[in-house]
Amino acid sequence: MSDSPWELLPTASNHAQSLDGLYILLTAVTGISFVLVIGTMFYFMWKYKMKSEDDKTSPLTHNGKLEFAWSAIPAIFLMVFFVWGELDFVKLSSPPADSIDIHVTGQKWYWTFEYPGRPVAATTEVEDGEIAPLLVVPKGQAVRLTMTSKDVIHSFYIPAFRVKKDVVPGRYTYVWFEATELGDFPVFCTEYCGDEHSSMLAVVRVVEPEDYKAEVAAATTLEQGEGESLEQFGEKVYKAFACNSCHNTDATRKVGPGFGGLYGKSENLADGSSVEADENYIRESIMEPNAKIVAGYTPQMPSFAGQINDEQLNALIAYIKSLK
Ligand code: CUA
Repeated sequence: MSDSPWELLPTASNHAQSLDGLYILLTAVTGISFVLVIGTMFYFMWKYKMKSEDDKTSPLTHNGKLEFAWSAIPAIFLMVFFVWGELDFVKLSSPPADSIDIHVTGQKWYWTFEYPGRPVAATTEVEDGEIAPLLVVPKGQAVRLTMTSKDVIHSFYIPAFRVKKDVVPGRYTYVWFEATELGDFPVFCTEYCGDEHSSMLAVVRVVEPEDYKAEVAAATTLEQGEGESLEQFGEKVYKAFACNSCHNTDATRKVGPGFGGLYGKSENLADGSSVEADENYIRESIMEPNAKIVAGYTPQMPSFAGQINDEQLNALIAYIKSLK
């Protein structure tokens, strides 16, 4: 991203040029109109100021040609804005039939990008070993995102591509684009969705078409690496599934209870009973989060059943056990 707020964003998709053009035209026309109208007003205020008590108002009523001009010229501009906007809107809403389909799920507070036939959602390592959701797309090919939400309304926004669409629970919404520049670009959530809304980020990575398959395979593999301990792999899982957006690694509370010293502890539940936080309890809390709610918390965690596999789950539990 550029440092100067005056510099326009990179234009990295097939939609960007035209939308920028319309935006610049709108800004220019409304800016010039503003100066003309307000400037004329001040000029008339000065020119026709009442100079004395018996100063008479002009007897002129109207000027047909002038009034026609100030109605017709803005009307022409409005038609240009409408037709340009409508053409872009139709284009934005009609993905080509041969688009690559990728599933996007929004939930508090992360994005999941699922590729057909791949076992886990795509992620990438960003600075400081943090892990972010990753959307890999090939340059120059149409991509259609089929999007839905597991909880509240989110909004999927790639500024460099000039595409943005609400992601709504209980229905599918779509965006499509053809990326035109190689590189990494940020993805934002632009609908306020709760505490961690501002950190609901992801990365879109545009790669050469011939590298696409390999990049997707690399991004959708979450396995224990060579020489990596189960706990180290578990920490990766903890970040890849964005557990950190709700659970701290020490004992302090966030949206949910902290994981520090959790293992082996006796938890008081909302229904008045208590349970020992062993492997079975932790596993159940990941797969069926609403089965046992800890006293003082609300049931708002989504289930990870079908998303996390047994290896990852074991590693995650090992990691939680290691947190003191
Ligand atoms: Cu999701 Cu804001």
